[in-house]
Amino acid sequence: MILVTGGTGYIGSHVCALLLAAGREVAIVDNLSNSGADVVDRLETVTGRRPLFHRGDVRDAGFLTEVAAKLRPECALHFAGLKAVAESVRQPLAYYDVNVGGTATLLKVLQQNGTRRFVFSSSATVYAPSEVMPLTEESPLGPYNPYGWTKFMAEQILRDLAAAAPDWRVAVLRYFNPVGAHESGLLGEKPLGTPNNLMPRLCDAAAGRTPRFSVFGLDYPTRDGSGVRDYLHVTDLALGHIRAMEHLETAAGAHVYNLGTGTGLSVLEMAAAFRAATGVEAPYEVCPRRPGDLAEYYSSPAKAERELGWKAEKTPADMCRDAWAFHRRCLAD
Ligand code: NAD
Ligand code: UD1
Repeated sequence: MILVTGGTGYIGSHVCALLLAAGREVAIVDNLSNSGADVVDRLETVTGRRPLFHRGDVRDAGFLTEVAAKLRPECALHFAGLKAVAESVRQPLAYYDVNVGGTATLLKVLQQNGTRRFVFSSSATVYAPSEVMPLTEESPLGPYNPYGWTKFMAEQILRDLAAAAPDWRVAVLRYFNPVGAHESGLLGEKPLGTPNNLMPRLCDAAAGRTPRFSVFGLDYPTRDGSGVRDYLHVTDLALGHIRAMEHLETAAGAHVYNLGTGTGLSVLEMAAAFRAATGVEAPYEVCPRRPGDLAEYYSSPAKAERELGWKAEKTPADMCRDAWAFHRRCLAD
């Protein structure tokens, strides 16, 4: 049995789809604060198999103990958390509570119930701003917002735990910029409220829900002046979790991996890829830089390829096509 916290969310649902398709037993724990229970039905539609679903909060030790004592999961994949950077600046306590407190509570309960394999959703935000690219797992750390610090602290808890208790096996996965959706069009990032990230905003403009999207800065020292990021398809990202989980069957200790493509794409390049892949123009206007944004960062995914045998395969065209298909389906629902 694999325990997936946050399994009805964007990334967790894609991992659940792969696990179920591979014949694994899956139990989702999610409080549905940023997802819907319909994802459980969608997973069944997509894979023909239904995961167990327990609605509850990862800060609730009593609830988690009931689940863990009954299921005795062999491995936990921990996606549940809050992820909006700007919100973390306004509400730091909520972020430390869920992302740090929730992780510590979950680990304590797993420790008491015999689970010793753990895969954690971290973020490229833990790296210090740098002009030295690509970012490797050894690049200096130094988050610059509360969200990043919560990931940094959770990583530290995991390193300390693996050092203190050698039977624990931990994979910390630092995601770069996940985009796209499941090829079925049934799983993706549900637009709740006003999106902040580039891809959903680009889709909104393409669909005419907004007149245009903003290009935040065309004066960066990048090849075309717009910001450069390492976008990767969520299905590739999901596969990285399967490889990491498998790796922990034999690898002891705590391991950190970047999950990205290793290639940066600018905002204007993404808009062009979108147009080419979908045939739809997303109008844009050039606006001032967004406070807190960096000019350019992208990963070195070499360690994940070397140790996990994982490499992102999907192209920007795949990312745009699948994001757009899911977006249109959501608008139609
Ligand atoms: P998401 O919001 O779609 O999924 C997170 C899920 O966790 C949601 O279903 C939500 O309902 C649930 N959740 C939130 N708080 C909870 C709590 N206290 N108890 C139980 N469930 C709770 O986000 P996502 O994009 O799928 O991200 C998954 C993880 O990956 C998060 O930890 C996030 O910080 C991390 N991450 C995401 C990105 C990204 O760009 N999406 C990048 C780097 C890291
Ligand atoms: C942000 C978070 C990061 C998180 C990621 C994915 C920060 C500092 N980091 O990264 O922790 O993992 O989201 O959820 O917030 N852009 C536009 N117009 C838009 C939106 C974005 O031009 O409407 C540009 C940005 O300036 C940036 C790029 O597009 O250059 C990507 O932005 P976004 O999708 O928001 O991701 P990040 O800021 O890289």
